[in-house]
Amino acid sequence: MRAAGGVVISAAGVRRSFGGVEVLRGVDLAVSPGEFVTLSGPSGSGKTALLAILCGFDVPDAGSVRPGPVAWSACAVLPQSLGLATELTLEENVALPLRLRGLPTDPVAGVLAELGIADLGSRYPAQVSFGQQQRAALARAVVARPSALLADEPTAHLDAVSADAAIALLRGVADDGAAVLVATHHDAVHAAADRVLELADGRIGTGLRRTTT
Ligand SMILES: Nc1ncnc2c1ncn2[C@@H]1O[C@H](COP(=O)(O)OP(=O)(O)OP(=O)(O)O)[C@@H](O)[C@H]1O
Ligand SMILES: [Mg+2]
Repeated sequence: MRAAGGVVISAAGVRRSFGGVEVLRGVDLAVSPGEFVTLSGPSGSGKTALLAILCGFDVPDAGSVRPGPVAWSACAVLPQSLGLATELTLEENVALPLRLRGLPTDPVAGVLAELGIADLGSRYPAQVSFGQQQRAALARAVVARPSALLADEPTAHLDAVSADAAIALLRGVADDGAAVLVATHHDAVHAAADRVLELADGRIGTGLRRTTT
């Protein structure tokens, strides 16, 4: 099933200061439907701050962004802090975006299986490892086939095998027509991307184009 829409992720002249320190100093970027783009940059360079603005969690001091605050079906978010509901099982967490849209929950089992956590669906987040929680949060982000996906270090707590499954899933979401932007420190994620954007000194440097096969 292809993603609905054709949502572009974009930022133009985005500036954001925290406590008098300007972290984002005029960020420009665009991710087209069907593109898988990664965002690199040292810890503290502003990747999470930028993603928060792109999805409408935070408001820039100057500049404009898309998609901004929109429905989950249009833009799914995988926060660095995961944001799983602790009172729901993994299965219920992943089903949430579908239930909120009144859609059948059939895709849940398949996505959990793809990420190797099919047997953990009935457990609560506190009853699984952090890497397993991370995979559940990724499953929840992709299950409703969003038109845009913003993921913050989605492989940070995963071993190589689980990370490969996560990367394949992200690649698949883009191949289905979504615009995908992923902040990451992992070379394997950058290697799977169409382009790598470097956030340095509050701005995006030249994107390195990669060829995908
Ligand atoms: N809400 C906030 N209040 C104050 N300072 C903030 C806030 N959000 C971010 N910052 C500061 O902005 C800078 C960028 O933080 P951010 O979390 O975006 O970095 P990052 O590139 O995502 O780092 P990491 O790779 O460690 O996740 C940091 O210096 C951080 O302390
Ligand atoms: Mg971050």
